[in-house]
Amino acid sequence: MKAWPYPLWIAHRGAGKLAPENTLAAFRLGAHHGYRAFECDVKLSADGVPFLLHDATLQRTTPETGVASKRPWSELSRMDAGGWHSRSFAGEPLPSLDTIARYCIRNGFALNIEIKPTPGHNEETGRVVSQHTAALWADESLKPLLSSFQPDALAAARTAVPSLPRALLLDSLREGWLAEAQNLGCVAIVANCRVLDATVIAQAHAAGLRVASYTVNEPAEAHRLFDAGIDGLITDAVDRFSPGSTVQV
Ligand code: G3P
Ligand code: MG
Repeated sequence: MKAWPYPLWIAHRGAGKLAPENTLAAFRLGAHHGYRAFECDVKLSADGVPFLLHDATLQRTTPETGVASKRPWSELSRMDAGGWHSRSFAGEPLPSLDTIARYCIRNGFALNIEIKPTPGHNEETGRVVSQHTAALWADESLKPLLSSFQPDALAAARTAVPSLPRALLLDSLREGWLAEAQNLGCVAIVANCRVLDATVIAQAHAAGLRVASYTVNEPAEAHRLFDAGIDGLITDAVDRFSPGSTVQV
């Protein structure tokens, strides 16, 4: 297996549900709880700017409606991505990947960028996100891990910047999952915790792949996966787990 430079504990969408997901405020809160690695979801604006948003549409996490990727960055960057969560976060902006890169690099934090394309934009999103990532982290030795549920997005990322580490996201262990990850040149899989056990993790390790898991919010689940040899635990429960080299609750 290749070296795995990422911390065991990774804060999901910045700080799980304690702050508005995929905002800089969430990253700051996750960091306040001791996290040194973060996961976030990245897609493209209409004019090709990579920014953080989970859903394809705006209505759940901003006051606006409609498909986010149809808006230019000049409009998206003015939207309130915090007020939906709670009053104290009102006015928190949608961050660009550039902003999050500056924050992570300045603080020495690791990042797992989930390439989350708007449907129909898989390859473009994989290409542009990987190119931006390569440029933003050009001077850093610790590169972000690019992950995606969309194999064609990962393939496009690989073609654009072969050197960036990639991981195939798996909600289930579909037939051929291991060969699929290997054929995409991945260094890891990131799988739903429900489908992982010691046998699956050993199988991936034997094939040279690391294994991370989402979304691990229960101490018993964290202990089970840690004992099974997991390499990364993505959690919403940043106030429940103490990130360190071993599982602590
Ligand atoms: O990257 C792991 C996890 O974030 C995948 O699911 O829906 O929370 O983006 P989702
Ligand atoms: Mg995600």
